[in-house]
Amino acid sequence: MKVAIAGGTGFLGRAITSALLDAGHEVVVGSRSRPDRDPIDSRATWVSIDVTAPQTLGALVSGVDALVDAVQFPNSPIENPRKGWTFERIDLGGTRNLVDAAKSAGIPLFIGLSGVGAAEQAPYHWLRFKWQEEQYIADSGVSHVIFRPSWVYGPRDVSLNRFLGFARFLPFVPVIGNGKTRINPLFVGDLAAHVVAALDRSAARGRVFEIGGPDVLTMDDVIRTALRVTKKRRLLLHSPKPVMKLVASLAQFAPGRPLTPDAIDFITMDGVADTAPLRETFGLRLTPLEEGLATYLKR
Ligand SMILES: NC(=O)c1ccc[n+]([C@@H]2O[C@H](COP(=O)([O-])OP(=O)(O)OC[C@H]3O[C@@H](n4cnc5c(N)ncnc54)[C@H](OP(=O)(O)O)[C@@H]3O)[C@@H](O)[C@H]2O)c1
Repeated sequence: MKVAIAGGTGFLGRAITSALLDAGHEVVVGSRSRPDRDPIDSRATWVSIDVTAPQTLGALVSGVDALVDAVQFPNSPIENPRKGWTFERIDLGGTRNLVDAAKSAGIPLFIGLSGVGAAEQAPYHWLRFKWQEEQYIADSGVSHVIFRPSWVYGPRDVSLNRFLGFARFLPFVPVIGNGKTRINPLFVGDLAAHVVAALDRSAARGRVFEIGGPDVLTMDDVIRTALRVTKKRRLLLHSPKPVMKLVASLAQFAPGRPLTPDAIDFITMDGVADTAPLRETFGLRLTPLEEGLATYLKR
Protein backbone atom coordinates (compact mmCIF):
# COMPACT_ATOMS: atom_id res chain seq x y z
CA MET A 1 0.00 0.00 0.00
CA LYS A 2 1.01 3.63 -0.36
CA VAL A 3 0.60 5.40 2.99
CA ALA A 4 0.91 9.11 3.75
CA ILE A 5 1.78 10.30 7.22
CA ALA A 6 1.29 13.90 8.27
CA GLY A 7 3.72 14.64 11.11
CA GLY A 8 5.87 11.69 10.06
CA THR A 9 9.01 13.46 11.30
CA GLY A 10 7.76 13.51 14.92
CA PHE A 11 8.26 11.05 17.76
CA LEU A 12 5.33 8.79 16.93
CA GLY A 13 5.41 9.62 13.22
CA ARG A 14 8.98 8.37 12.75
CA ALA A 15 8.26 5.08 14.51
CA ILE A 16 5.14 4.59 12.40
CA THR A 17 7.04 5.47 9.21
CA SER A 18 9.75 2.86 9.90
CA ALA A 19 7.21 0.18 10.84
CA LEU A 20 5.24 0.83 7.65
CA LEU A 21 8.41 0.62 5.54
CA ASP A 22 9.53 -2.56 7.30
CA ALA A 23 6.13 -4.07 6.48
CA GLY A 24 6.75 -3.35 2.78
CA HIS A 25 4.58 -0.26 2.33
CA GLU A 26 5.51 2.85 0.38
CA VAL A 27 5.53 5.92 2.67
CA VAL A 28 5.15 9.65 2.03
CA VAL A 29 5.96 11.83 5.04
CA GLY A 30 4.60 15.37 5.36
CA SER A 31 5.75 18.11 7.74
CA ARG A 32 6.74 21.78 7.68
CA SER A 33 10.52 21.42 8.17
CA ARG A 34 12.65 19.43 5.75
CA PRO A 35 14.21 16.70 7.94
CA ASP A 36 17.80 17.26 6.72
CA ARG A 37 19.50 17.65 10.09
CA ASP A 38 17.76 14.58 11.50
CA PRO A 39 16.87 12.62 8.36
CA ILE A 40 13.85 10.35 8.23
CA ASP A 41 14.20 6.76 7.06
CA SER A 42 15.78 7.06 3.60
CA ARG A 43 13.19 4.67 2.14
CA ALA A 44 10.44 7.28 2.71
CA THR A 45 9.81 10.38 0.61
CA TRP A 46 9.14 13.75 2.20
CA VAL A 47 6.79 16.53 1.12
CA SER A 48 6.34 19.99 2.57
CA ILE A 49 2.93 20.57 4.17
CA ASP A 50 1.34 22.83 6.72
CA VAL A 51 -1.89 21.45 8.14
CA THR A 52 -3.16 24.98 8.75
CA ALA A 53 -2.92 25.67 4.99
CA PRO A 54 -5.21 23.23 3.13
CA GLN A 55 -3.74 24.20 -0.26
CA THR A 56 -0.40 22.59 0.79
CA LEU A 57 -1.89 19.13 1.43
CA GLY A 58 -2.39 18.00 -2.18
CA ALA A 59 1.07 16.46 -2.65
CA LEU A 60 0.65 14.40 0.52
CA VAL A 61 -2.75 12.95 -0.20
CA SER A 62 -2.63 12.31 -3.94
CA GLY A 63 -2.81 8.64 -4.90
CA VAL A 64 -2.43 7.17 -1.41
CA ASP A 65 -4.35 4.25 0.09
CA ALA A 66 -4.29 5.55 3.67
CA LEU A 67 -3.50 8.78 5.54
CA VAL A 68 -2.15 8.80 9.12
CA ASP A 69 -2.46 12.01 11.18
CA ALA A 70 0.47 12.27 13.63
CA VAL A 71 0.62 16.07 13.84
CA GLN A 72 0.74 18.12 16.99
CA PHE A 73 1.94 21.68 17.55
CA PRO A 74 5.64 22.27 18.30
CA ASN A 75 6.65 22.14 21.98
CA SER A 76 3.34 20.52 22.97
CA PRO A 77 1.84 20.69 25.60
CA ILE A 78 3.15 24.26 26.10
CA GLU A 79 0.74 26.32 23.99
CA ASN A 80 1.95 29.55 22.44
CA PRO A 81 -1.04 31.48 21.05
CA ARG A 82 1.21 34.28 19.78
CA LYS A 83 2.85 31.80 17.39
CA GLY A 84 -0.45 30.05 16.69
CA TRP A 85 0.76 26.88 18.42
CA THR A 86 -2.40 25.73 20.16
CA PHE A 87 -4.38 22.51 20.49
CA GLU A 88 -7.32 24.17 18.80
CA ARG A 89 -5.50 25.57 15.77
CA ILE A 90 -2.94 22.86 14.95
CA ASP A 91 -4.27 19.63 16.46
CA LEU A 92 -8.01 20.10 15.94
CA GLY A 93 -7.86 22.51 12.96
CA GLY A 94 -5.10 20.44 11.34
CA THR A 95 -7.09 17.22 11.68
CA ARG A 96 -10.14 18.89 10.12
CA ASN A 97 -8.04 20.03 7.14
CA LEU A 98 -6.45 16.59 6.74
CA VAL A 99 -9.84 14.85 6.87
CA ASP A 100 -11.24 17.27 4.28
CA ALA A 101 -8.20 16.64 2.05
CA ALA A 102 -8.57 12.86 2.48
CA LYS A 103 -12.24 13.08 1.58
CA SER A 104 -11.71 15.15 -1.57
CA ALA A 105 -8.85 12.87 -2.68
CA GLY A 106 -11.02 9.79 -2.09
CA ILE A 107 -8.52 8.19 0.32
CA PRO A 108 -9.95 4.85 1.49
CA LEU A 109 -8.65 5.00 5.09
CA PHE A 110 -7.86 7.72 7.67
CA ILE A 111 -5.95 6.76 10.83
CA GLY A 112 -6.21 9.30 13.65
CA LEU A 113 -4.18 9.63 16.85
CA SER A 114 -6.29 10.94 19.69
CA GLY A 115 -5.49 10.47 23.40
CA VAL A 116 -6.74 8.57 26.45
CA GLY A 117 -9.36 10.64 28.24
CA ALA A 118 -10.79 12.30 25.12
CA ALA A 119 -14.41 13.15 25.95
CA GLU A 120 -17.01 15.80 25.20
CA GLN A 121 -17.09 16.96 28.83
CA ALA A 122 -13.43 16.21 29.71
CA PRO A 123 -11.93 18.46 32.41
CA TYR A 124 -9.19 19.80 30.12
CA HIS A 125 -9.59 21.61 26.79
CA TRP A 126 -6.99 19.44 25.01
CA LEU A 127 -9.07 16.33 25.75
CA ARG A 128 -12.25 18.07 24.57
CA PHE A 129 -10.48 19.04 21.33
CA LYS A 130 -9.26 15.44 20.88
CA TRP A 131 -12.90 14.35 21.21
CA GLN A 132 -13.93 16.93 18.61
CA GLU A 133 -11.20 15.59 16.28
CA GLU A 134 -12.64 12.09 16.70
CA GLN A 135 -16.16 13.34 15.93
CA TYR A 136 -14.98 15.18 12.84
CA ILE A 137 -13.25 12.05 11.53
CA ALA A 138 -16.26 9.84 12.32
CA ASP A 139 -18.75 12.27 10.76
CA SER A 140 -16.71 12.72 7.58
CA GLY A 141 -17.86 9.47 6.04
CA VAL A 142 -14.21 8.48 5.39
CA SER A 143 -13.42 4.94 6.55
CA HIS A 144 -11.24 5.30 9.65
CA VAL A 145 -9.52 3.84 12.69
CA ILE A 146 -8.73 6.02 15.71
CA PHE A 147 -6.20 5.21 18.45
CA ARG A 148 -6.21 6.89 21.84
CA PRO A 149 -2.68 6.34 23.15
CA SER A 150 -1.81 6.66 26.82
CA TRP A 151 1.64 8.08 27.65
CA VAL A 152 4.11 6.90 25.00
CA TYR A 153 7.82 6.26 25.63
CA GLY A 154 10.66 5.36 23.29
CA PRO A 155 14.11 6.37 22.08
CA ARG A 156 12.94 9.79 20.87
CA ASP A 157 10.44 10.78 23.54
CA VAL A 158 10.92 14.19 25.11
CA SER A 159 9.48 13.44 28.54
CA LEU A 160 11.09 10.38 30.15
CA ASN A 161 14.39 10.98 28.32
CA ARG A 162 14.48 14.56 29.62
CA PHE A 163 14.01 13.40 33.21
CA LEU A 164 16.62 10.67 32.80
CA GLY A 165 18.97 13.31 31.36
CA PHE A 166 19.01 14.95 34.80
CA ALA A 167 20.16 11.65 36.34
CA ARG A 168 23.38 11.91 34.31
CA PHE A 169 24.69 14.83 36.33
CA LEU A 170 22.40 15.20 39.38
CA PRO A 171 22.11 12.92 42.43
CA PHE A 172 18.33 13.07 42.03
CA VAL A 173 15.61 13.03 39.38
CA PRO A 174 13.13 15.94 39.56
CA VAL A 175 9.49 14.84 39.33
CA ILE A 176 6.67 17.33 38.72
CA GLY A 177 3.84 16.61 41.18
CA ASN A 178 3.63 13.82 43.73
CA GLY A 179 4.70 11.06 41.33
CA LYS A 180 1.40 9.24 41.81
CA THR A 181 0.00 9.99 38.32
CA ARG A 182 -1.35 6.66 37.02
CA ILE A 183 -0.49 5.59 33.47
CA ASN A 184 0.04 2.42 31.46
CA PRO A 185 3.11 3.43 29.45
CA LEU A 186 2.99 2.43 25.80
CA PHE A 187 6.13 1.45 23.90
CA VAL A 188 6.24 3.50 20.70
CA GLY A 189 6.98 0.38 18.65
CA ASP A 190 3.69 -1.15 19.82
CA LEU A 191 1.74 1.89 18.68
CA ALA A 192 3.46 1.71 15.29
CA ALA A 193 2.69 -2.02 14.98
CA HIS A 194 -1.00 -1.36 15.62
CA VAL A 195 -1.12 1.42 13.03
CA VAL A 196 0.40 -0.96 10.46
CA ALA A 197 -2.07 -3.70 11.42
CA ALA A 198 -4.99 -1.24 11.16
CA LEU A 199 -4.40 -0.97 7.40
CA ASP A 200 -5.99 -4.33 6.73
CA ARG A 201 -7.94 -5.17 9.90
CA SER A 202 -11.53 -4.81 8.71
CA ALA A 203 -12.88 -5.42 12.24
CA ALA A 204 -11.14 -2.20 13.35
CA ARG A 205 -12.84 0.08 10.81
CA GLY A 206 -15.00 2.87 12.20
CA ARG A 207 -13.80 2.27 15.76
CA VAL A 208 -11.85 4.07 18.50
CA PHE A 209 -9.27 2.05 20.47
CA GLU A 210 -7.57 3.02 23.69
CA ILE A 211 -3.99 1.79 23.54
CA GLY A 212 -1.50 1.49 26.41
CA GLY A 213 1.08 -0.88 27.79
CA PRO A 214 0.37 -3.97 29.92
CA ASP A 215 1.46 -2.41 33.25
CA VAL A 216 -0.56 0.23 35.13
CA LEU A 217 2.06 2.19 37.07
CA THR A 218 2.65 5.48 38.83
CA MET A 219 5.05 8.02 37.33
CA ASP A 220 7.44 7.21 40.20
CA ASP A 221 7.30 3.51 39.23
CA VAL A 222 8.11 4.44 35.63
CA ILE A 223 11.15 6.53 36.60
CA ARG A 224 12.37 3.91 39.11
CA THR A 225 12.07 1.21 36.42
CA ALA A 226 14.08 3.37 33.99
CA LEU A 227 16.74 3.96 36.66
CA ARG A 228 16.91 0.21 37.33
CA VAL A 229 17.30 -0.52 33.62
CA THR A 230 20.16 2.00 33.37
CA LYS A 231 21.65 0.68 36.64
CA LYS A 232 21.51 4.09 38.34
CA ARG A 233 20.53 4.83 41.94
CA ARG A 234 18.92 8.24 42.34
CA LEU A 235 16.45 9.87 44.69
CA LEU A 236 13.20 11.16 43.23
CA LEU A 237 12.69 14.80 44.17
CA HIS A 238 9.01 15.78 43.98
CA SER A 239 7.92 19.36 43.41
CA PRO A 240 4.31 19.83 44.58
CA LYS A 241 1.87 20.61 41.79
CA PRO A 242 0.57 23.90 43.33
CA VAL A 243 4.16 25.18 43.61
CA MET A 244 4.91 24.15 40.02
CA LYS A 245 1.72 25.83 38.78
CA LEU A 246 2.81 29.02 40.54
CA VAL A 247 6.26 28.79 38.95
CA ALA A 248 4.61 28.10 35.57
CA SER A 249 2.27 31.07 35.92
CA LEU A 250 5.39 33.28 35.97
CA ALA A 251 7.43 31.21 33.50
CA GLN A 252 4.76 31.55 30.83
CA PHE A 253 5.79 35.20 30.41
CA ALA A 254 9.52 34.42 30.13
CA PRO A 255 11.21 34.40 26.70
CA GLY A 256 10.64 31.09 24.93
CA ARG A 257 7.67 30.39 27.21
CA PRO A 258 9.33 27.44 29.01
CA LEU A 259 6.26 26.34 31.00
CA THR A 260 2.56 27.08 31.46
CA PRO A 261 0.10 26.14 34.22
CA ASP A 262 -1.87 24.04 31.68
CA ALA A 263 1.27 22.10 30.82
CA ILE A 264 1.60 21.15 34.51
CA ASP A 265 -1.95 19.77 34.42
CA PHE A 266 -1.14 17.93 31.20
CA ILE A 267 2.01 16.35 32.63
CA THR A 268 0.33 15.26 35.87
CA MET A 269 -2.99 13.94 34.53
CA ASP A 270 -3.80 10.24 34.82
CA GLY A 271 -3.89 8.29 31.54
CA VAL A 272 -4.83 4.64 31.83
CA ALA A 273 -5.99 2.95 28.63
CA ASP A 274 -8.51 0.12 28.70
CA THR A 275 -6.85 -2.20 26.20
CA ALA A 276 -9.40 -5.04 26.20
CA PRO A 277 -11.13 -4.09 22.88
CA LEU A 278 -7.72 -3.43 21.29
CA ARG A 279 -6.32 -6.83 22.30
CA GLU A 280 -9.48 -8.59 21.20
CA THR A 281 -9.43 -6.92 17.76
CA PHE A 282 -5.70 -6.86 17.00
CA GLY A 283 -4.28 -9.67 19.14
CA LEU A 284 -0.83 -8.06 19.19
CA ARG A 285 1.54 -8.25 22.14
CA LEU A 286 1.99 -5.12 24.29
CA THR A 287 5.53 -4.73 25.60
CA PRO A 288 6.12 -4.52 29.37
CA LEU A 289 7.86 -1.27 30.40
CA GLU A 290 11.14 -2.81 31.53
CA GLU A 291 11.48 -4.77 28.30
CA GLY A 292 10.67 -1.74 26.14
CA LEU A 293 13.14 0.51 27.99
CA ALA A 294 15.89 -2.12 27.73
CA THR A 295 15.72 -1.97 23.92
CA TYR A 296 17.18 1.55 23.86
CA LEU A 297 18.41 2.80 27.26
CA LYS A 298 22.14 2.50 27.91
CA ARG A 299 23.01 0.28 30.86
N1 LIG B 1 3.74 11.48 22.52
C1 LIG B 1 2.78 10.91 23.28
O1 LIG B 1 3.04 10.38 24.38
C2 LIG B 1 1.34 10.92 22.79
C3 LIG B 1 0.35 10.37 23.61
C4 LIG B 1 -0.97 10.39 23.17
C5 LIG B 1 -1.28 10.94 21.93
N2 LIG B 1 -0.30 11.47 21.16
C6 LIG B 1 -0.69 12.06 19.86
O2 LIG B 1 0.13 11.56 18.81
C7 LIG B 1 0.32 12.58 17.81
C8 LIG B 1 1.81 12.76 17.54
O3 LIG B 1 2.49 13.12 18.74
P1 LIG B 1 4.10 13.19 18.80
O4 LIG B 1 4.47 13.13 20.24
O5 LIG B 1 4.69 12.21 17.86
O6 LIG B 1 4.34 14.68 18.23
P2 LIG B 1 5.73 15.40 17.84
O7 LIG B 1 6.91 14.52 18.13
O8 LIG B 1 5.70 16.75 18.47
O9 LIG B 1 5.63 15.53 16.25
C9 LIG B 1 4.72 16.43 15.68
C10 LIG B 1 4.82 16.35 14.17
O10 LIG B 1 3.87 17.30 13.64
C11 LIG B 1 4.56 18.13 12.66
N3 LIG B 1 3.90 19.43 12.63
C12 LIG B 1 3.81 20.39 13.60
N4 LIG B 1 3.09 21.43 13.17
C13 LIG B 1 2.71 21.14 11.90
C14 LIG B 1 1.96 21.84 10.90
N5 LIG B 1 1.43 23.05 11.13
N6 LIG B 1 1.77 21.24 9.71
C15 LIG B 1 2.29 20.00 9.44
N7 LIG B 1 3.02 19.30 10.34
C16 LIG B 1 3.23 19.86 11.55
C17 LIG B 1 6.00 18.20 13.18
O11 LIG B 1 6.93 18.54 12.16
P3 LIG B 1 7.22 20.11 11.81
O12 LIG B 1 7.28 20.84 13.12
O13 LIG B 1 8.52 20.10 11.05
O14 LIG B 1 6.10 20.54 10.95
C18 LIG B 1 6.18 16.73 13.60
O15 LIG B 1 6.45 15.93 12.47
C19 LIG B 1 -0.40 13.83 18.33
O16 LIG B 1 -1.69 13.85 17.82
C20 LIG B 1 -0.47 13.58 19.83
O17 LIG B 1 -1.54 14.25 20.44
C21 LIG B 1 1.01 11.49 21.55
